[in-house]
Amino acid sequence: MAVYRRVSEVLVRTGWLNVLRRSSSATRGLKVGESNPNITASLKITTKETLKDDSILPFSAFLTDNFGRRHNYLRISLTEKCNLRCQYCMPEEGVKLTPRGQLLSTTELLTLARLFVREGVDKIRLTGGEPLIRPDVVHIIAELKKLEGLKTVAVTTNAINLARLLPKLKEAGLDLINISLDSLVPAKFEFIVRRKGFHKVMEGIDKAIELGYNPVKINCVVMRGFNEDELLDFVALTENKPVEVRFIEYMPFDGNKWNFKKMVSYQEMLDGIRQRWPNMEKLEGAHMDTAKTFRIPNFKGQVGFITSMSDHFCGSCNRLRITADGNLKVCLFGNSEVSLRDIMRSGASDEELLHIIGAAVGRKKKQHAGMFSISQMKNRPMILIGG
Ligand code: 5AD
Ligand code: SF4
Repeated sequence: MAVYRRVSEVLVRTGWLNVLRRSSSATRGLKVGESNPNITASLKITTKETLKDDSILPFSAFLTDNFGRRHNYLRISLTEKCNLRCQYCMPEEGVKLTPRGQLLSTTELLTLARLFVREGVDKIRLTGGEPLIRPDVVHIIAELKKLEGLKTVAVTTNAINLARLLPKLKEAGLDLINISLDSLVPAKFEFIVRRKGFHKVMEGIDKAIELGYNPVKINCVVMRGFNEDELLDFVALTENKPVEVRFIEYMPFDGNKWNFKKMVSYQEMLDGIRQRWPNMEKLEGAHMDTAKTFRIPNFKGQVGFITSMSDHFCGSCNRLRITADGNLKVCLFGNSEVSLRDIMRSGASDEELLHIIGAAVGRKKKQHAGMFSISQMKNRPMILIGG
């Protein structure tokens, strides 16, 4: 295995993986512990030179795409079900759920997680639907935390069940929490999520703070005519709470009635907030960060913006997604998916699975098609993709 891995590392450094990908016969012949003679010959010429470049750390060829993006962040949807019905996430009439037998079992899910972590994934986020309604979520987190090399296990939740479950989740090793909250007005919250539960969410946020999560991230999808009038109230939350309020530009998915006028852009949000707090300062962002972050002097928390629409971050995208029914999705806004579940159930070996994963990553586009094209495109509703 080590030899195989080393070969794949070298292949990506030298650009040979692309050649391999183009020639499927070359990859088909390559077995664990073996090297392809054609490639080995070429490596003799190229490795010496490229290995001098210390700035490039080894990373799996399978998880590196044709644009050099290394995918070390995996989002796994634990369930398609949700106890809320957010307007921007799912159509009013609901979604057709995948029959239980076609969803990934816990064993399958952990097998995939293990494989991805072995290849270099160091962060896994559990999403849904609502991940905390999966009965064995605590067990899954505890098992993930046993994987050597996995540094962070995160969850994105609507927090309806969070206050009750958090002590157990924390004990299992949960590192990070993102909570969805789109209004601070209970009646409006209920209108947007089409269910009750505002106070439970607030309790969940307080519990997360009490148990030491810092920052607790609060995801707020901003929609004109719904909640754009609450931006300042959300920012004010950061004065005394160690939270990061993240304003997310409204994104188009099947069934969510997206239209350009409902989207409030980053610039418009920023201008509005700056009128009240002109001294809000921009923070240095980490390279892979999707959020642009700010802080108001002397406030405990911070404010972030996720600008997927007006200023996409495709160039530094390091994410892959696995849906609850076991499809690998290399881009949130792309409709190409490959069923890892079917491949696993056909009895494929880890190496065969890896080749399929590598090929899918290899097909990842440079960037999404732009907000207008995306809004015309067929994709799953967000609830079936997993945030
Ligand atoms: N636009 C932007 N963000 C969305 N989310 C779900 N649907 C959308 C959308 N249409 C995000 C929310 C939620 C997470 C699960 O996914 O922020 O917190
Ligand atoms: Fe459920 Fe989250 Fe979708 Fe809302 S956004 S319906 S909480 S999955």
